[in-house]
Parts: sequence; C-alpha cells; structure tokens
Amino acid sequence: MLSEKLKEETKTYHHQTEVALIGRIKAISDKEDYASLLKMFYGYFGGLEKHIDNAIDTSLMDDYHQRRKTSAIAEDLEALNADVPAVAEGGDLPEITSHLQALGALYVIEGSTLGGKIISKMIAQKLDPLHGEALSFFNSYGDDTMKMWNSFKEKMNNQAQTEAEKATVTESANNTFRHFADWIARYN
Ligand code: HEM
Repeated sequence: MLSEKLKEETKTYHHQTEVALIGRIKAISDKEDYASLLKMFYGYFGGLEKHIDNAIDTSLMDDYHQRRKTSAIAEDLEALNADVPAVAEGGDLPEITSHLQALGALYVIEGSTLGGKIISKMIAQKLDPLHGEALSFFNSYGDDTMKMWNSFKEKMNNQAQTEAEKATVTESANNTFRHFADWIARYN
C-alpha cells in the first residue's frame, strides 16, 4: 500500500528533520525564538501550499479546504505581534505540477500534524505564559488529529495504484522533505 511505502521510504528524511527541529525547539527561550520557528515553517509551508493549491484535484481530495492551512501560522504570528514573512518560491520548493506530486507534498504536511502535537507540548512547557495561545498551527487538529490522518491516508491510497504512480508520490514526498531540510539549514 502507498502509505506503507511512503513511511518506509521517507523515514531517513523524517528522522533528519526531527533531529534538526528538536535542537531548535529545545533552544527556544522566549516568544521571539518561538516566532522565529513559526516564520521558518510559514515561509516553506506557505510556498508549498500555493503549489499544492494549483496542482491538487479537489474532487479526489474533497476535504482539502478543511485541512490545516498556513493561515493558522499567520494567526499565531499575529498573536505574538510578530511579522508574517514572505513565502518560499522557485528553487526553494520541490516541483509540484501534478495531482500525484501534490499528494506527495501533502503527505509530508499532513504527517507533520502528528509531530505537531509533540512540538506544541514542548513549546507550551517552555513558554508557559502563552497559556495555549499562538499554538493553533502545532496543535494541528487537536483530538481529531489521528482521525484526520487516517482519512487522509485512506483517500491517498485509493489514488495511486500502479507502481509508477506510487513512485511519483514517493519521489515528491522525498523532494519535499529534502527542500525543507535545506530551508531549515538556512535558518540555523
Ligand atoms: C520535533 C519534530 C517532530 C517530531 C517529534 C515528530 C514525530 C512524529 C511521530 C511521533 C510520528 C508518528 C509516527 C507513527 O505513528 O508511526 C510522526 C509521523 C510523521 N511525521 Fe513527524 N515529527 C516531527 C516533525 C515532522 C515534520 C516537521 C514533518 C514534515 C515536514 C514531519 C512529517 C511526518 C510524516 C510525513 C509522518 C507520517 C509517517 C507515516 O507515514 O506514518 N514530522 N512524526
């Protein structure tokens, strides 16, 4: 099944992303540091979202517009009185010009809601005065996070049946992780 292939074939990149982020999150000591983390996510995920919007076939992913959007990061930044940065473009982003490539990028974004729950707990512990404010992006879908993840995987699995289609989605997911790793490295 595609979701199993994706999990297996992207796990090295996931691990690298996790390691790079945990270091940054542990180093957060005030709201400015947290705003800088949000800006990093906004820039990359914001650019990615525009590409996905242009390529995704919403008749095949009918709840796409209800899924988490980078506007949540903009709201969190505004709650911190921080500026909303420009989004990534051009060579900073993977190529997403087909529905299958959009699915690969969306796999990465939707999967990040699982790690988001862990990140939001780490940030809330560090910045207690936030009292849960400015955490809407990392809180993901709250108690519905697993339900949303499982329904995403189910829809995605139905759309890439052949080996060639599965390879296209997997390559796009790995490209999405790889460009994000480069983006993160530039913020360190
Ligand atoms: C501190 C950072 C992170 C932590 C601690 C973390 C942790 C996790 C955990 C615990 C899971 C669930 C694994 C499972 O159920 O088997 C997961 C899944 C996933 N995460 Fe992360 N994550 C982090 C950051 C990210 C980021 C930034 C991205 C994307 C850019 C990402 C993409 C994914 C994906 C795609 C999955 C789904 C894997 C699957 O196919 O089951 N994660 N993560």
